[in-house]
Order: sequence, then C-alpha cells, then structure tokens
Amino acid sequence: MSKQHLIVFDTTLRDGEQSPGASMTKDEKVRIALMLEKMRVDVIEAGFAIASEGDFQAVKAVAEAVKDSTICSLSRAIEADISRAAEAIKPANSGRIHTFIATSPIHMKYKLQMQPDEVIEQAVRAVRFARNLAADVEFSCEDAGRSEMDFLCRIVEAAIDAGARTINIPDTVGYAIPELYAEQIRTLIERVPNSDKAIFSVHCHNDLGLAVANSLAAVQAGARQVECTINGLGERAGNASLEELVMAVRTRPDVFNVETRINPVYIVPTSRLVSTITGFPVQPNKAIVGKNAFAHESGIHQDGILKHRETYEIMKAEDVGWHTNSLVLGKHSGRNAFRARLQELGINFASEQELNTAFTLFKQLADKKHEIYDEDLQALVTDTRAAAAAEYLQLVAMEVQSKTGETPLAKVVLNVEGQELKAEAQGSGPVDAVFKAIETLTKSGASLELYSVNAITSGTDSQGEVTVRLALGGRIVNGLGADTDIVIASAKAYINALNALQNHADRRHPQEADI
Ligand code: KIV
Ligand code: ZN
Repeated sequence: MSKQHLIVFDTTLRDGEQSPGASMTKDEKVRIALMLEKMRVDVIEAGFAIASEGDFQAVKAVAEAVKDSTICSLSRAIEADISRAAEAIKPANSGRIHTFIATSPIHMKYKLQMQPDEVIEQAVRAVRFARNLAADVEFSCEDAGRSEMDFLCRIVEAAIDAGARTINIPDTVGYAIPELYAEQIRTLIERVPNSDKAIFSVHCHNDLGLAVANSLAAVQAGARQVECTINGLGERAGNASLEELVMAVRTRPDVFNVETRINPVYIVPTSRLVSTITGFPVQPNKAIVGKNAFAHESGIHQDGILKHRETYEIMKAEDVGWHTNSLVLGKHSGRNAFRARLQELGINFASEQELNTAFTLFKQLADKKHEIYDEDLQALVTDTRAAAAAEYLQLVAMEVQSKTGETPLAKVVLNVEGQELKAEAQGSGPVDAVFKAIETLTKSGASLELYSVNAITSGTDSQGEVTVRLALGGRIVNGLGADTDIVIASAKAYINALNALQNHADRRHPQEADI
C-alpha cells in the first residue's frame, strides 16, 4: 500500500526564535530557510510579521529567497495581524497565513476574557478575512491540549467552513500524554463533520519531554502535518524536534504509514547552522544531531559494530549528514572552491564584494589554522555578516595585557554609531577586563546571563566560539563571536549581543497581547 504524505512544517524561525536569546537577523533567517528548502521541508514558518518591522522584513526576505517550500507567517486572529502576514508572504511562490486564537477555558477566561461563542466568532472572522488574502490558511486552537472536546469540535468545524485548509491542534504548554493526545486527534477527525476538507496538524511543546512522542502518536491517529523545529528549539523546553520526527518515520516504515519528502543528509549541517546562529549548543547525547549520537565507547559495542554495523546502529551516520572525511578547505583552496562549499552549506553571497571580503578572511584564517572545516566556514560567515550588519557598535581594535601576578588590563577601540571611542579597564581575567572596557563606553547596563566558550573543531589551533547572553529590561539576547583568539572571540560576542539588544528593541511576542 502506498504511503501517505506527512507534511513537515518547520517553525525554527518563529517558535524556535521564541527561545529566550535565540533571536535571528534577517540574513540569518534567510540562510536557515535556504537550508530548510534544500532539505525539502514542505512549509517554513518564517516569523510573526506583526511582531516588529524586523520580523516583517525577515518573513518577506525569506519569501523572496525560497522557491520550493511554502512560506508562512503567524498572526493572531486580528485583521491587522493577518494583513501584515499577507503582505510579508506576498513574494512567495507559495504562501500561507497561519492564524490562531486560544480555545482552552483557562485562556479564554483569564487571557482573552471572552465567552466561548465570541471566540468562535472571532476565529471565523479571522479565517474568512485571511482567505480573502491567501488561498492557503491554517487555523490553530492555541492550548488545544487543555481545551474541551465539544468546544474544539465546534470551533474546528466553523474554521473549516470559513475556509481553513489546515487545522492545527497545538499542545501549547506541553501537557499532553501520547495516548490521550492521539485520542484527541482521532476523536476530532471522527466527530467534526467536515474534517475531510482539512489536513490535521500537530504542534507539540516539550515541557514533559514528550513532544516527539505526542506528535508521532498523533500521526498514528491521522494527523498529516507535524510542526517542529531544528534541534527542538522553541519556547521554554522547546518544540518537537524535526530530526527526531523525520528519522523515526524513516527508520520505522513498519510502524508508520506515512513518509516525508525530507532529504536527511542536510539534517546535521542545518542543525549546526541553527546552533551557530542562535548560540544554543546541541547537547552531545542529543538524538541524531548530538556529537555522540553515533559514537560507540564500550568495547563490546565497538566490536559488534566492526563485525556487523546493524548490531548497534539503527541508522547510518552518513544518511543524516555526518561525514567522516570532513576536512573541506585549506590554505591553497581557491575562490571557486570556497564559494561552492559555502553554497552547499546554504550560504550565498549577495555581491562579489561580499564574497571577496569573506574570501580574504578565509585566507587569513587558513594562515592561522591549516585545516578548515564546515564548522569554521559557518562561524566565519556568521561572524563577518554580524559585524557588517552592525549599525550600533563595531570592534575596531583591542589589546590585552595579561601576566602572572598582575591584574589584566584591556584597551578597546569601538565604533559607536559612527564615532570612534577608546577605553581601558582592568578585570579579574582578560575577558572580564575586555567586557568592562566595552561597558565603560556603552553603559548598556545589561546583565551577563551566560558566557560560554566552545572549541569549534579539535586541536589547539581551533577557533573558539563564544556565546554571550545578555538581559536588559526583560529582554534576553545572544551574541556569538568566533576567532582563533578566544579573548577576541569574546569581545566580538559581547558586541554582537549589544547590537542584538539594540536591533530587537521593538519586538513583540505572539502570545503577549490580548485580542
Ligand atoms: O504553541 C502554540 O500554541 C503556538 C501557536 C501560536 C501555534 O505556537
Ligand atoms: Zn508553539
């Protein structure tokens, strides 16, 4: 019997971005979206267009760049939101408006302060309005996992009648349990009279660590779209992870009567790209994309693998994009090899000049570090683009004195909104001194929530990738910096975080405002 198509809806750029500190620039979103397109994701939720001018521009840029995936923007069930979403997705070959309203008693009473009938009316108005602007409309019942079945049936039937093609049943707070969630989906499909006119979708959060299990149980019950994110990124404990869902369906065709069109070979490169851009490292034991996911430590396992790989491996590392021979470029590589490798990583240059700048930096890096890996290239481009896009702060020069028995001293020169300023400061270590010097000039008042250094590749010539998380006035942002000198990488990361605080000052959260 031929398998049914399971639609993969990736929301890394929207729900993933709602992880505190995971905000992405327009350019970064386009890079991730191009990788998702290569991976053959069906639908890419590129953002929440009304959230800010930056979000709107990012959704639009993704809609312009991506050709083969449907591009979607989230909107509350409000006309202004929906109009903005429609405007943002206009350049897409295939666009979708995703509108939502809360349906659980607790949300309707306390958050919306609306009667259930008013919620249905609002949902119907929103879906009708959206259908006048786009043929492809998805409707979500926020907090469906805690909503009452009779009410869900009524609102879902009304939304389908109003023109919604996809009905999403989110477990917004990660409260569902696989068996019960599957039962909820099955009952909806059976009881809603016009359920055959829509695709049922699931969107699970991972608060109890059950997001993937819940999504797969729902697929067994008839859901034909899964909403997920790369690395399971997302609000709070995250969303169902794309790589786990896709590989579960692929590895167990005996269990699942569906198939996706995903090309899994892009899974690991995309996971790395998302991790580099957001500054959220992937835990080593994370399924599929963790560094240890295919590593065998115990002698018995190693022996078994050598005799017959399937003794201890249910998937092939190469199938998901782990490659053994990962050395890609070196000092003698030319511009074409450089450009081609970056294209394979989903990185395209807007102009020859941008390519030339990146190539010069690559040559400088290759002088310091002889073997250049994909991870180095990703970090190099992320780093240079962040610096080029920085409108507020740029690092011009820095110097650090550090000696046994003496307090380290840092001198920095920054370009602050076009003006070159110098400062120096002492600190308990060189990084502390640099941060203090930067703070002397910017007086941001931001508090440092996280500082982490990660060697991008192995060896002491590795680039250090630094993540700095800053909090200010309730907002949290991440900054990333990479360099073979970890003190310089730290300065870059701190400056990138300060720029991010500046750039995302006007941003709103989709669930923050009441209708
Ligand atoms: O978790 C959720 O309910 C959402 C909706 C907006 C789809 O992200
Ligand atoms: Zn969500």
